[in-house]
Amino acid sequence: MNTKLFGTSEYDIAEAGKMIAQGKLVAFPTETVYGLGADALNDEAVHNIYRAKGRPSDNPLIVHIAEKEDIVPLVKEVTPKAKALIDAFFPAPLTIILNKSDKVGKVVSGGLDTVAVRMPKNEIARKLIKASGCPIAAPSANTSGLPSPTRVKYVIDDMMGKIDGIIDGGDCEYGVESTVITLATDVPTLLRPGAITKEMIEAVIGEITVAPAVLEGMKNDEVAASPGMKYKHYAPKAKVVIVNADKKTYEDFVNSRKDAFALCFDDDEVTIPKVTFGKENDDLSQAKELFDALRELDEMGAKKVYARIPHKDGVGMAVYNRLIRAAAFCIIDLTKPFTVGLTG
Ligand code: TXA
Ligand code: MG
Repeated sequence: MNTKLFGTSEYDIAEAGKMIAQGKLVAFPTETVYGLGADALNDEAVHNIYRAKGRPSDNPLIVHIAEKEDIVPLVKEVTPKAKALIDAFFPAPLTIILNKSDKVGKVVSGGLDTVAVRMPKNEIARKLIKASGCPIAAPSANTSGLPSPTRVKYVIDDMMGKIDGIIDGGDCEYGVESTVITLATDVPTLLRPGAITKEMIEAVIGEITVAPAVLEGMKNDEVAASPGMKYKHYAPKAKVVIVNADKKTYEDFVNSRKDAFALCFDDDEVTIPKVTFGKENDDLSQAKELFDALRELDEMGAKKVYARIPHKDGVGMAVYNRLIRAAAFCIIDLTKPFTVGLTG
């Protein structure tokens, strides 16, 4: 397949929008990561998204809208808590799950009775949705299982020849995917942490719960609240191990390793080959650089990687959530004296 590369001119966005309206697949920038878009109401087009990504068909997609009111026809009811979140945050890196209307097909919802909806902050994304005249279903524009693409270069690496178009909108602002919260359960539940934090949400709708799988591995017999959580994710080719240690202990540990790479913060003093992912006390910088760093480690041919543990507060929860998946939940704990614990 010939993949057309688009810029961000009005003309290009109009052309890309036409492609989507015709049932074709176009990758586009959002403020989180690049998305792989198709007409959300066209089952065949949506099916082709799963095919291009190699994604299991029971893992539902997020439906992207251009205006707040565009959520109304997609859901059974915009509940009071949903309305509060929409008014407080949309457009934003926040995805809300509600019971779906009959308009939303089973392909996009992965067979569930619910639908995930998001109004992106990125203007190119919203212009594309408007130009297409339909809501756009879009997962991250990576091959299933690889880190989400934060730069157009990675979309090209994964999707060239497999989809109809790619819009080059530069690097993504946040670098981790949107926060996902379900309001279709009795208690609102955070399914995936992102740049809109638990604290920010609780300031608007009161206390929420965090799905256990967010910060831990899933037990084999556990049912995933969000199907995406049960799949191996964000995994580079290298074996990643998280090192739970302060700066000095981490530096001493990695500097004594041979044939390994460090995935550390900008100021860590590391003498083995390294890739950095932001500043120790700046979770937004870590979010922005993590997926890029994971792809870079693969490009450098890393086989074994020791990653410095990020803190779990604020946007740090999102960074930690992605990193433990990249590490397949493998953590070395150097905070307890004389014990080296391996979990996962
Ligand atoms: O930032 C983002 O959210 C990006 C950009 C492109 O918008 N999209 C994205 O989509 O990350 P994706 O498909 O890679 O991740 C969507 C996540 C998956 O974990 C999926 O299982 C979950 O949301 N999800 C979608 N619909 C759901 C539903 N009805 N119930 C539970 N989880 C759902
Ligand atoms: Mg994804």
